[in-house]
Amino acid sequence: MTKEVQKQILLNAFDMNSVGHINHGLWTHPRDQSHRFNELSYWTDLAKTLENGLFDGLFIADITGVYDVYQNNIDLTLRESIQLPSHDPTTLVSAMAAVTQHLGFGVTVNLSYETPYQFARRFASLDHLTQGRIGWNIVTGYLDSAERLIGHSGLKDHDLRYEQAEEFLQLCYKYWEGSWENDAIQKDKAHRIFTHPKKVHEIRHQGHFYQSQGIFQVAPSPQRTPVLFQAGASPRGLAFATAHAECIFIGGDQPEKIRQQVLKIRDQAVLRGRQANDIKIFLGITVVTGETDQIAQEKLTEYRQYASPEAGLAHYSSSVGIDLSKFADDEVIPYQKSNSIASVNEKFKTEQITKNDLKSQHILGGRYPLIVGSGSNVAEQLIQLIDDTGIDGFNLTRTVAPESHQDFIALVIPELQQRGRYKTAYETGSLRHKLHQQGDYLPKSHPVDQFRCRPLKQEKNDTYLQHITA
Ligand SMILES: Cc1cc2nc3c(=O)[nH]c(=O)nc-3n(C[C@H](O)[C@H](O)[C@H](O)COP(=O)(O)O)c2cc1C
Repeated sequence: MTKEVQKQILLNAFDMNSVGHINHGLWTHPRDQSHRFNELSYWTDLAKTLENGLFDGLFIADITGVYDVYQNNIDLTLRESIQLPSHDPTTLVSAMAAVTQHLGFGVTVNLSYETPYQFARRFASLDHLTQGRIGWNIVTGYLDSAERLIGHSGLKDHDLRYEQAEEFLQLCYKYWEGSWENDAIQKDKAHRIFTHPKKVHEIRHQGHFYQSQGIFQVAPSPQRTPVLFQAGASPRGLAFATAHAECIFIGGDQPEKIRQQVLKIRDQAVLRGRQANDIKIFLGITVVTGETDQIAQEKLTEYRQYASPEAGLAHYSSSVGIDLSKFADDEVIPYQKSNSIASVNEKFKTEQITKNDLKSQHILGGRYPLIVGSGSNVAEQLIQLIDDTGIDGFNLTRTVAPESHQDFIALVIPELQQRGRYKTAYETGSLRHKLHQQGDYLPKSHPVDQFRCRPLKQEKNDTYLQHITA
């Protein structure tokens, strides 16, 4: 057996601070609890459940704006709760961190509507409070409705959004890693030195999109830079992701295409001076499992009665920026250039897709590949996917919440463990260390390194200390 074949599977739960997330319509299932998303106990219970299942993380999607492309209004979005209402994801993290020790949190924040300083401060603070378990899913937005809400004149061009993201990130690196030396905090009560003044440095940034000068207000946190997640798949998106991301989230349902995407990601990472495995690649999936294959199929049949493929298409319409309600079920949907998620929209260029095709993909209301079966059957399929494609793990959507995660933990995890493909205990350390086994900080080969502050030339004796203690 090669090393690749024995790869341990990484696992994130994929969720959102909302009722409908991916698998639309299932909120109407009698056992579904997602309508309790505005209660803290819903999230703290979920965090404890996931930690019992040794999940690596909870990946929280987010959207600024509403899905108003389908039928050119938000009626279905409101009726089916298609990510509306949706609340701020960062507000959930401290509470979940308080009831867990190991679970990581990948939180989506759209940088287009943030100032780098305020954002960097919030995430550095969360890195402290979670003791190094915070990650950031870097998104730049793709909805015109968001632009109107924020008061902008319209979406920036797709590639320009990534240019802005590059500079936003560069500035965040300066705050997180360029302002405070590792040992700046001294907490020396005897000498009355909380922070050593010579070890905190001003950052200066005069860029195209942003200007900033001054010291960062947050002391160095366990990971300094949060673990960086990204999902861009267009050529420009991929260039950005392979330069910066530590975890890339991909969609896809054909193993060969996924494998090609994985190779592309790893090749590009190497071209940018990183190691092929510096990037962990997660595939979004949906699982319905039961004690036997038959029970799982019956559960799927039952869930389907509540799912809304149409709501799934409304979500899809906004993802690609095309109103799918305008097409007949059997009409091939023509490619139209839009300013939305280029990688999803590209499919219409290369494949003959009808609404009927999309509806059969969305039988549970979501677009992610659906895996159905007993725990051992699902485990075998997941292992096969990992081995065939070279991905590192999965972002697991919820169906009926929280029972789908409970089912997965009770039925699939033990089967993965028995096959030696899933951890049986957490390692200690930060989220970054757990994912990469290389310590808490990003490696030197990462672009952050050029923004790190270097300790001033070591003086033989610390003249500052001599001065104040004289
Ligand atoms: C699997 C996947 C998940 C995504 N999750 C989010 C999200 O939670 N919030 C968001 O604003 N954008 C999300 N996006 C959109 C991406 O962040 C990005 O805007 C989009 O992929 C455009 O980049 P691209 O054109 O380079 O693919 C997601 C995209 C993909 C493919």
